[in-house]
Amino acid sequence: MTNVVVVGTQWGDEGKGKVVDMLTEYADLVVRYQGGNNAGHTLVVNGEQTICHLIPSGILHKGKRCLIGNGLVVDPEVLLGEMEELRSKGVEITPENLSLSEKAHIIMPYHRAIDLAREEAKGKKKLGTTGRGIGPCYEDKVARVGIRAIDMTEPDTLSEKIKVNLEEKNFYLTEFLNSEPLDYDSIYESYLRMGEILKPYIRDVSLEIEKAILKGKRILFEGAQGTHLDVDHGTYPYVTSSNPVAGTACSGAGIGPDKLNHINGIVKAYTTRVGAGPFPTELNDETGDYIQERGAEFGATTGRRRRCGWLDMVLIKDSIRLNGLNSISITKLDVLSGLKKIKICVEYELDGERVGSRPASLKRLSRCKPVYEELPGWDQDISSVRSWDELPDETKRYLLRIQELSGIPISIVSVGPMREQTIILSNPFTGGP
Ligand code: IMP
Repeated sequence: MTNVVVVGTQWGDEGKGKVVDMLTEYADLVVRYQGGNNAGHTLVVNGEQTICHLIPSGILHKGKRCLIGNGLVVDPEVLLGEMEELRSKGVEITPENLSLSEKAHIIMPYHRAIDLAREEAKGKKKLGTTGRGIGPCYEDKVARVGIRAIDMTEPDTLSEKIKVNLEEKNFYLTEFLNSEPLDYDSIYESYLRMGEILKPYIRDVSLEIEKAILKGKRILFEGAQGTHLDVDHGTYPYVTSSNPVAGTACSGAGIGPDKLNHINGIVKAYTTRVGAGPFPTELNDETGDYIQERGAEFGATTGRRRRCGWLDMVLIKDSIRLNGLNSISITKLDVLSGLKKIKICVEYELDGERVGSRPASLKRLSRCKPVYEELPGWDQDISSVRSWDELPDETKRYLLRIQELSGIPISIVSVGPMREQTIILSNPFTGGP
């Protein structure tokens, strides 16, 4: 039995989807454990692209079960939309290959309305959320007024909870956020109807995982967002409202820490960020534009242009500690081809002193200057390289330096979006190439 967790080590968009897709071949179950439809991964189904925000990409692999854990916040409209879209492309979706945890919290129309109205009210100070109601839904979960998947299958509970919530939310929306109130009847009817459709999928995911483990099945836990967007450990308040760190695979799926065997951290060969917030290695120059264009760095959920910068090993080293990483996967390495010099930030300089971990205070972080090491770049197109030996010497040097600074092995190197554009040095499931 081997269970693997894949997490993002930066600010999300590291290319987790591709690694998850590749590793799914070795897994029996694929489980998401936090976040919601703020995440997005591009799937290619019969040559056609589809962007999924909730359903794990494992759904495209025959015979694999995909589970949506209790740690997620789920917009049922989005989930049903994705199920329909995939079905229209010939992907079978039944309770045999998809489950939704009965304890997952449900995103309601007032969550989306509050998210959008709050951002609007903040003006220049906005966080740049995805506007999907993620934060307000997690707020209600912690405030113990949230609506869970199971509630959608109990008309009385659903009705009472919507009524109680709407009273407060409508007051907040109209009196504080100068927004429109929402109507009880239409919300109740649509959520009840969606609950009826989703009922066969709503299960005890924790029990299901336990049974699978007892049968010796292999599980892949798919993290969303990235470590530095973590509500506890990220660049607070410019973070998401969940914990993308690996430990959440336990609380967000309903299993114990003893069930996790290998944690793989996805490291994009450079850094990107969408939304607002500090970014010490950001490049507001031609090199940043070069990376943005070559890497097609646009958000999968909002289509926003991603900010780009050099690889920041301060972030990666924090991620190694916070997630207990066993190995890293380097993605989008091919994007850096053609750059004369490549820089790696190895430390920050803060008020004349060197620091090796990102300060919690945003004021202190804004004074941090990256300390760079400069390495030679490479001209060759590496997108068709399939083995370590074929890589240009300069590329190997870049990778080896990342590995040395990380202190943990590189297991996978990705040189393009296609499944075959991958160099596997050590498979986290099998230990082999
Ligand atoms: P929220 O998760 O929609 O509340 O947005 C909070 C912050 O997290 C914003 O800066 C978003 O751009 C960022 N964010 C949320 N999900 C993702 C993701 O999947 N990739 C990258 N950034 C994300």
